[in-house]
Amino acid sequence: MNKKDQELVEFLSMMNSDFIIENSKEVRTTAYYETFPETTIEYFRRFMELGIIEPGMKFIDLGAGLGLPTISAAHIGLVAGGIEYNPTLARGAQELIALTRKVGLLLPETICKVVKGSYFPIEYSAIRFNNGSIAQQHEKEVSEWIVDNEIRLIPESSNHDVYADLGIKLEEADVVFAYTWDVQTPSVLEIFAEYTKQNAILIHKSAFETPMTREAISDLKLKRNITPIKGENSPFYIVTKKEQRKSLMSKLYTSFKIA
Ligand SMILES: C[S@@+](CC[C@H](N)C(=O)[O-])C[C@H]1O[C@@H](n2cnc3c(N)ncnc32)[C@H](O)[C@@H]1O
Repeated sequence: MNKKDQELVEFLSMMNSDFIIENSKEVRTTAYYETFPETTIEYFRRFMELGIIEPGMKFIDLGAGLGLPTISAAHIGLVAGGIEYNPTLARGAQELIALTRKVGLLLPETICKVVKGSYFPIEYSAIRFNNGSIAQQHEKEVSEWIVDNEIRLIPESSNHDVYADLGIKLEEADVVFAYTWDVQTPSVLEIFAEYTKQNAILIHKSAFETPMTREAISDLKLKRNITPIKGENSPFYIVTKKEQRKSLMSKLYTSFKIA
C-alpha cells in the first residue's frame, strides 16, 4: 500500500465506524457491520500486480453497503460501481463518495457510483422459479434463521433496470465483487455464472465460511464450470469460469498458496 492508499484506508475506516454508530438500527436490518478497507485495498493491489485486475476494468459490487470496496476499486483505477438495496446505506455511500472526492482521495474525473436497488437482474426470478435453482432452496432453508436475527429478506428482482442507472451492464463487468451474508451467496454465484462474460472474475468474500457457502460453490463448480480459487489466509475467493482458470491459477501460484 502506498501513502495515498493508507490515507484512504484511514479515512474510510473512520467514516464507516461513525456511520454504523449513527445508523445502527437501519443498517442492522440488512446486516451491514464492519468491513475492512485495509485488506480490500491490499488485495486489490496484489491482484493488480499479478495482472488479474487492470486499470480501466469495469467493477461492480453486488450489495455495495457504504461503498468501501467500490471507492477502493475506483481509487486504484477501476471504473467502479456498486448496487445497494438498503436506502440508508445507498444514500450513505453516495455521500461518502462525494466526501472522498472533496478531500482529494478520489479525482474528480474518476468514475465511482453507487445506486440504490436490488442487484437481481430483471429476468432472474424467471430462471429461479422455473428451474428451481439452488438459491431458491437455500433461501427457504434459512428463512427462519433470518427472521430470528431480524434480517429482512431482499426482494429477488424488480422491474427496474438498476444496471442502466449504474451505467455498467452486468455483461460488461470485468470484475464482480461480493461480500455476502450466507443467504446471498448462492444467488450471487448464480448471477456471476449466468450474466457475466466468460473472462469476468468474481472477487468473493463470504461473511461466514459455512457448509452452505461451500455447498453452493461446489454445486456451481459442477454445474456451470465456475471455479473458486482461494489463497491460504486470503479473505477472498477468486471465482472464475472454465476458460480463465488456467491462466489465473498460474498467476496466483506465484504469490499465493492455493487452498
Ligand atoms: C456484508 S454487506 C457488504 C457491503 C460491501 N460490499 C462491503 O464489502 O463493504 C452486504 C450488503 O448487501 C446488501 N444486499 C443484500 N441483498 C441485496 C440485493 N438483492 N440487492 C442489493 N443489495 C443487497 C445488504 O444491504 C448489505 O449492505
